[in-house]
Amino acid sequence: METNRHRLILIPPPFQGHLTPMLQLATILHSKGFSITVAHAHFNSPDPSNHPNFSFLPLFYGLSHTHISSKNVVDITATLNTKCVSPIKELLIDQSEKASINHEKIACVIYDGLLYSVDGVARELEIPSMVLRTTSATNFLSYHVFVQRQSSGCLPLQDSMSLDLVPELEPLRFKDLLMFDSSAVMQQQIAKTLTVRPSLGVICNTVDFLEKESLNRLHQVYKVNFFPIGPLHMIAEEDSSRSSFVEEEYSCIGWLNNQPTKSVLYVSLGSIASWEEKELTEVAWGLANSKQKFLWVIRPGTIYDVSEWFESLPKDVRMAIGERGCIVKWAPQGEVLAHQAVGGFWSHCGWNSTLESLCEGVPIMCQPHFGDQRVNARLLSHVWKVGLEWSDIMERDEIERAVRRLMVNQEGKEMGQRAFKLKNQIKLAVQGGSSYDAFNGLVKSILSVNL
Ligand code: UDX
Repeated sequence: METNRHRLILIPPPFQGHLTPMLQLATILHSKGFSITVAHAHFNSPDPSNHPNFSFLPLFYGLSHTHISSKNVVDITATLNTKCVSPIKELLIDQSEKASINHEKIACVIYDGLLYSVDGVARELEIPSMVLRTTSATNFLSYHVFVQRQSSGCLPLQDSMSLDLVPELEPLRFKDLLMFDSSAVMQQQIAKTLTVRPSLGVICNTVDFLEKESLNRLHQVYKVNFFPIGPLHMIAEEDSSRSSFVEEEYSCIGWLNNQPTKSVLYVSLGSIASWEEKELTEVAWGLANSKQKFLWVIRPGTIYDVSEWFESLPKDVRMAIGERGCIVKWAPQGEVLAHQAVGGFWSHCGWNSTLESLCEGVPIMCQPHFGDQRVNARLLSHVWKVGLEWSDIMERDEIERAVRRLMVNQEGKEMGQRAFKLKNQIKLAVQGGSSYDAFNGLVKSILSVNL
């Protein structure tokens, strides 16, 4: 069936970890012939020159460019949902009119799971809709379990329960759940996100075999189609950094080219999480004392000036690091993880980083910070067994020990072997397996309501 008269409107929020998978989804849908419009916030916006085949429409939500951190991300999301309704409604009405003049049709609105308010707008305008979930299916399921417990009176949770296993979600513990220690605002948002019922279903950036049980349970609860079509970055075959807000420092690839195979630990906390300045010093010491090579991303905004900070470290730690370390502001993470010199990843376990690491067979030293990251870390360490759970104590001796467990000890090598097997299984899922089938199902589903 022809798709080129079918336009899709994709609506991502202005967060790196959500915009990137949405653009990857846009890329693969475009490859099936759909016309693509990306309606994005006017700040943290994608660079249209990287995607010449898409139309980009900025939405003015009445928010100024805001520095996004783990402290304000929940409030920003709540504000976006309040403020996005009328601009998105206007945009959809306008685009529908333009589409019909061009003999096109708005075939579907695809919005990010954080923008739950779009669901009502699409429904009101009778435009078919889908939601893109950019976190793991297990994380999404955990929202449902939490709300169910809440309504059956099993909450509030006590601090003493933090290490107990959640009976419905083993091996997750209560403390792994996003809602365990979340604010009332966040709990309200989670409840709202669960009310969303997109008419055509839920797109999940995951792979069926990685989260089969969670996907089955979600399907039973929601009674809409779930399409596990991930990992999107692999299917899009497009360097995910092409939607980066910060310029990548490619010089680190040259540095990696001169390092032995699997000798380098890649250290990055993604686009929001960060360490305090005191912790950064302990990380520097821990990495130096581990005697391992490392490539470390210290994002702008984390500290004022990276080179000044490095120069301010005591001479002995700078000497101990010497040529062993390379520090950059932002790395081309796709290339870094695919590089043969990289043997481990110290990660905050954001879902994109988790998937990117799994696809390259790189084992992870897990240090979740907030949100879905604790669920991802638990999946890595206790389900797929390719992640190291460590104490998280940000002291140099503890860090040194954890780095050596991952990079030197037998334990780390075994995780690496399991990661290599997963990498191959994921490849099969993408090349004609479950993700390939799910993607074709998704395309059919959009076309079937737009005959
Ligand atoms: C956020 C949440 O924190 C995360 O838990 C959720 O799953 C998605 O939204 P973020 O914290 O940025 O995302 O983490 P992550 O999901 O890992 O996404 C970071 C992205 O930035 C990845 O695609 C990664 O490749 C990219 N990145 C990171 C770079 O390209 N260069 C870097 O130096 C660091």
